[in-house]
Amino acid sequence: MRTLPHERNGWRLWAVYFPDGSKIRHTDPTHARCTTSSLEPQALAGSRPVPNYGGKLLKIASLSLSSNMCPNPESRSPTSAEETLTRFSTPQAAAKYARSLGGTATHARELRSISNALKAVPAQSLVLDLPCGTGRLLPALVSWGFRVTEADSSLHMVEHARDLARKQALKTAETFVVASVFETGFPDASFDAVVSNRLFHHFREREVRRKALSELRRISRGPIVVSFFSTRSIDAVYFRLRNVLRGKAPTDRIPISPADFEEDARAVGLKVARWIAPRPWVSKQHYAVLLRS
Ligand SMILES: C[S@@+](CC[C@H](N)C(=O)[O-])C[C@H]1O[C@@H](n2cnc3c(N)ncnc32)[C@H](O)[C@@H]1O
Repeated sequence: MRTLPHERNGWRLWAVYFPDGSKIRHTDPTHARCTTSSLEPQALAGSRPVPNYGGKLLKIASLSLSSNMCPNPESRSPTSAEETLTRFSTPQAAAKYARSLGGTATHARELRSISNALKAVPAQSLVLDLPCGTGRLLPALVSWGFRVTEADSSLHMVEHARDLARKQALKTAETFVVASVFETGFPDASFDAVVSNRLFHHFREREVRRKALSELRRISRGPIVVSFFSTRSIDAVYFRLRNVLRGKAPTDRIPISPADFEEDARAVGLKVARWIAPRPWVSKQHYAVLLRS
């Protein structure tokens, strides 16, 4: 393994090359908005030596990812972006996620919805799967004829996705990237389409959703398929009722109205071309197919 810095658009990217020729890259923290010292506690949280990658890389990755949603030092309650990043960043979280959803009815419904959302995208198009998690969507995306880039903020998730591709000999999965949805480091209009599955329901603040949507708009020259949890479902009513009965204010997976989601999209220069509901009126999970407005 060797690391090489590259200069691009004022950002330094570190490419990590593995002996088999594949690569993982991420953004160098030294060009981030926050100072290194203000990030140190977060950078250290959860960092541990990772076999085959080396402590140095992990530390750089942690720093750069923390810096993407730089906390305001005056208000220390974490944003949903920070909470989500932390929650999925450990090897244990990745191992657990790898065992969930695959092969379930939910998985099948999600694949049908994403396939439908991408039906106008020709084979051989370059599609970004962000966040890729452990690569659950990868075999389907490849089977639909796309060239796929898998990206996630968690090195451990990316590692699982990469192993899956290797085990299933998915030759067209070319690139595996550790990147945050807020600052991916990809050049403008890099992808023919982008899929963002099961991330936005973790973002409770509209500023966080808009920052992520704005970055996806920047890097996509085609449709952006985003899942979110919608209030227009029995699931959402049940969710609200359960929290009222428990006297609990939920902080995660909070359904939002399609109108609110559409407003977020509009605010960053996107329009909703299509809505797709895998289980209309029943399930919270909804998809919006976004295009530049
Ligand atoms: C619920 S999983 C969904 C994974 C995959 N899309 C799927 O449907 O199986 C959420 C993923 O988001 C990733 N994540 C959290 N914050 C992120 C961020 N700021 N940028 C990119 N990925 C992020 C986590 O590491 C985790 O893999």
